[in-house]
Amino acid sequence: MHVLTKLSSLKTPELFLKHVESLGIDIPLDTHIHQLTDSPLMNSLRWNNRTIGNRIAVQPMEGWDGTTSGGISEAMIRRWRRFGESGAKLIWGGEAMAVRPDGRANPNQLILIEANREGIGQLLAALRQSHREHWGKTDDLVIGCQLTHSGRFCRPNDHHRWEPRVAHRHPLLDSKFGVTESCLLTEQEILGLIDDYVRAAKLAHAIGADFVDIKCCHGYLLHEFLSARTRQDAFGGSLENRARIVLEIIQRIRKEVPGLGIGVRLSAYDSIPHEPNPETANDSKLGQGRPRAHDHLIPYQWGFGMNIQRPTEVDLTEPLQFIQWIRGEGVDLLNVTAGSPYYTPHMLRPAAFPPSDGYQPHEDPLLSVAKHFHVTKQIKQENPGLLVVGSGYSYMQEHLAASAVHNVRVGWTDFVGIGRTVLSYPQVLTDAVLQGTSQRKLICRTFSDCTTAPRNGLPSGCYPLDDYYKGTETAEAVKRIKSTF
Ligand SMILES: Cc1cc2nc3c(=O)[nH]c(=O)nc-3n(C[C@H](O)[C@H](O)[C@H](O)COP(=O)(O)O)c2cc1C
Repeated sequence: MHVLTKLSSLKTPELFLKHVESLGIDIPLDTHIHQLTDSPLMNSLRWNNRTIGNRIAVQPMEGWDGTTSGGISEAMIRRWRRFGESGAKLIWGGEAMAVRPDGRANPNQLILIEANREGIGQLLAALRQSHREHWGKTDDLVIGCQLTHSGRFCRPNDHHRWEPRVAHRHPLLDSKFGVTESCLLTEQEILGLIDDYVRAAKLAHAIGADFVDIKCCHGYLLHEFLSARTRQDAFGGSLENRARIVLEIIQRIRKEVPGLGIGVRLSAYDSIPHEPNPETANDSKLGQGRPRAHDHLIPYQWGFGMNIQRPTEVDLTEPLQFIQWIRGEGVDLLNVTAGSPYYTPHMLRPAAFPPSDGYQPHEDPLLSVAKHFHVTKQIKQENPGLLVVGSGYSYMQEHLAASAVHNVRVGWTDFVGIGRTVLSYPQVLTDAVLQGTSQRKLICRTFSDCTTAPRNGLPSGCYPLDDYYKGTETAEAVKRIKSTF
């Protein structure tokens, strides 16, 4: 039974590094974080004839809090304003935006269609305005829109009803998400979907986005296509075929929206879907995670960035090839992430506490953090000309700034992407680097309420630490849900 060492107990860099060493992994820290001039995190970069003012990126963080027609809400505007206040100069996507109504992951996800053009434009404007109010200028602020189709995880009409559309059948996931043969996208539908991406990219450009992210991560549709080995048509089988839909979307956007930058958020590695181990569960606790039984499925055909003989191990051969191809089409921004929130959440969002649809940690979450950092490093080293954003930083808590500065200084990544901790403490990095201070009480402790809430049909948010959500009826409802697992 794995017993977790709480990160908040590792108060000094020495204690942290000793613990990391005992785990047999490597997560270096820098000792000089507060540097008024010349902090590696504050160095600008050139991109697309523009300057990006520093090395802090806000990861896309959706809130399950839009209108049911895919439009904006007050809570959303507030979140985007806080993204602007963070001081980050790269806003990677803001949050997932579906390219068509039935491609939404939930009934409250944004849809980037003509009807929502004005509202989503307001989100970008609100972010720029709050950034200007706090940081004085926006000419070095770069904002993207994240374009998505949620594929296997579509729930466009009801928080509790899956309406999946898939790239391929999956022996371990189909039954959980209600996938049948009729959910497979046809070639004709794929061609229509490519048009939807191009339409959404045109709208993103029109409302002032600097780039679009063609989201290829977290098990959503375009990520799933990359593992469509069992698909029989031009969009499955060989890696060339599996990458075709993404490459065609990129080529079309390049041609039809020439001024718009293009980035890709990629789950560069993955693992076998995990499940709670019932032997370690009790009445009030989910079991610890374990990979689902898969010995009968070797060589494993249903993942991307995994060793097909030993699928719990990373194999970057295909992801590196894919990155070469997208670079060849002009993509110069890559956001490296991993796994899926629905079947390998510990990889994507290392956490001390699971969400209601997850499992207790079966290993120290720092193992997942280290994997993020080292895979990102390898990708960056093999692609020096590519601007790379790293993920998985929030679990670092009080050591976040020290690892961020290290990773940027030595070139393991160009940008440090921050996700959950932006919800509780948008200025977590700028405070540490520019002021030499940190408000410990605002640091994300990875309670996972921001995921438990939406898994139960409620809007996301930082219920434990953000005053806007604290003490609300929804916060009470989240507490009640948490008492049951
Ligand atoms: C509430 C919530 C919403 C998220 N929304 C998105 C999203 O819209 N698009 C996306 O690519 N990732 C999304 N993610 C994943 C984050 O961008 C990020 O990769 C993850 O939280 C790990 O980074 P962190 O350790 O800094 O939190 C979300 C995660 C959470 C917890």
